[in-house]
Amino acid sequence: MASASIFSDDHDHNNKTLVFLFLFGVTLSICFLNSSASAEIQCLRHPVKADRSLSFLVVGDWGRRGLYNQSELALQMGIVGEKLDIDFVISTGDNFYEDGLTDVNDPAFYESFSNIYTAPSLHKQWYNVLGNHDYRGDVLAQLSPDLREKDKRWLCLRSFILHAEFVEFFFVDTTPFVDAYFTHPKDHTYDWRGVLPRENYLSKLSKDLNSALRHSTAKWKIVVGHHTIKSAGHHGITQELVSQLLPILEENNVDFYVNGHDHCLEHIIDSKNQIQFLTSGGGSKAWRGDIKWWNPEELKLYYDGQGFMSMEITEEVANFSYYDISGNILHKWSLSKKLDSSV
Ligand SMILES: *[C@@H]1O[C@H](CO)[C@@H](O)[C@H](O)[C@H]1NC(C)=O
Ligand SMILES: *[C@@H]1O[C@H](CO)[C@@H](O)[C@H](O)[C@H]1NC(C)=O
Repeated sequence: MASASIFSDDHDHNNKTLVFLFLFGVTLSICFLNSSASAEIQCLRHPVKADRSLSFLVVGDWGRRGLYNQSELALQMGIVGEKLDIDFVISTGDNFYEDGLTDVNDPAFYESFSNIYTAPSLHKQWYNVLGNHDYRGDVLAQLSPDLREKDKRWLCLRSFILHAEFVEFFFVDTTPFVDAYFTHPKDHTYDWRGVLPRENYLSKLSKDLNSALRHSTAKWKIVVGHHTIKSAGHHGITQELVSQLLPILEENNVDFYVNGHDHCLEHIIDSKNQIQFLTSGGGSKAWRGDIKWWNPEELKLYYDGQGFMSMEITEEVANFSYYDISGNILHKWSLSKKLDSSV
């Protein structure tokens, strides 16, 4: 049976092996993509709609027992989710404030997740990554299949691939990249089980991500992580990711990098590599009020309040929109790919 360890060294599987995992009442297969490098990368599959489209919401930095407008935003997510007939929800991390979950029985799981995102349209699979606040609790609790028994929507893994026909999502565990959590943890305790020794973890993750991206034949490549790479917000850019992750995204023609961490909504198009940097970190506490200068040619949206994002994607076009607490569209964008493109 599949374990929570996604970037696995296990060579017993061959690439035809399909292991079935029951998530959310539908059967999602787990695929093992054989790369030419030594690692085999486990990935999940999600079906696309009959019209060969896919739609989903993205929310980040949310779990505050409904406070800071988390509940109000959840209501709007439900309305938009229904309108777009979403297939799933992506969480960009910082799922439970302030310090993750204490254990799998932490009532915060219900108080900040199950009892908040109650709309029928949000009763879809949630694909979650961990944020830095999640690492301050029992990190293994969020990764535990026990949570899926409490709420079948829940799926949180450290790093994994989600394959949906023409689009592939690469979820990356970004917290271990950030030096300060190791060198200056202040009064916080981080749960680094499964991460140490850090250098090995990071080099394997980078190598496996690079290899998976290089071998991906998907039309669209979307990388999802908690931390920012390009951001004009409170935290700004994450230098470690600029030096260690960005070159991998550039080398492999990634279309989107989607993140949270800064509690705002942002859309930045890198003028050098054309990568779209989408921040959706407005799931609850927002309005930090500090914005750094960013090249206005690149910065298409900066909104400092609560909000979330949607994406509707087909082989030819990716449309994405940003919504505020009242469900108003703040900004939308459309990106298309030529079907006859030879690259
Ligand atoms: C909640 O949203 C309203 C706008 O609907 C805003 O005025 C208020 O400041 C927000 N509250 C918090 C705590 O962010
Ligand atoms: C994307 O947006 C364009 C322009 O607004 C629209 O014509 C098209 O139908 C949209 N496609 C999808 C898949 O939502």
